[in-house]
Amino acid sequence: MTTPALYNPELLDRIADDLYANGFSIQPEALSPTLCHDLLMALQHQPLRSAGIGRSELHRTNADIRRDSIAWIEPDDTATRDWLAFAAELQQAINRRLFLGLFSFESHFAHYAPGAFYKTHVDAFRGESNRVVSVVAYLNPSWQQSDGGSMVLYEPGDQGETLAEVWPEQGTLAVFLSEEFPHEVKPALRDRYSIAGWYRINTSDSSRVDPPR
Ligand code: OGA
Ligand code: MN
Repeated sequence: MTTPALYNPELLDRIADDLYANGFSIQPEALSPTLCHDLLMALQHQPLRSAGIGRSELHRTNADIRRDSIAWIEPDDTATRDWLAFAAELQQAINRRLFLGLFSFESHFAHYAPGAFYKTHVDAFRGESNRVVSVVAYLNPSWQQSDGGSMVLYEPGDQGETLAEVWPEQGTLAVFLSEEFPHEVKPALRDRYSIAGWYRINTSDSSRVDPPR
């Protein structure tokens, strides 16, 4: 028995080539409708916590910046295991093409209620984080542009021009270098469901000099 493909086999190389050439890649219809549907079901069984409001001062400040609710993804059902398997294959493809030495992956489900946003930010600051590549996957079927909720990706720098406006349509995948590209999530009229993930390098090794041969 064969299981239907979760994604197009050429997809991984296309993403790695785009990352190499441009630092980002936007791929509509990257993930199969079945996988997205199953991930959406899995998300709806998760206890989501507000990413914006917490105990610390830092977290209170975050509420002005982001208003999504999140749940970290663990391999606890078929859909999340398939997602993590996909992420592991993408990790290999990126490492083969860019020699980035990505070694771990973490991701969370995110729910943006109507009106929720995530203001312009970068996912990692140079030298302060070991997040190297960001991945966002979108789960809502039949998204209309009139629903709002796009992710806007900006050129590197403070006053960057818009590089891409990504609509959160089911199956679309956005991949970009975490330190380089400011981006934001615009408020939507509908509930908006996505997965955000990050590949890390091993910082315990990154400060060491390679041993001589
Ligand atoms: C994030 C993020 C984008 C999106 O969680 O850091 O930028 O479109 N998410 O959900
Ligand atoms: Mn982000």
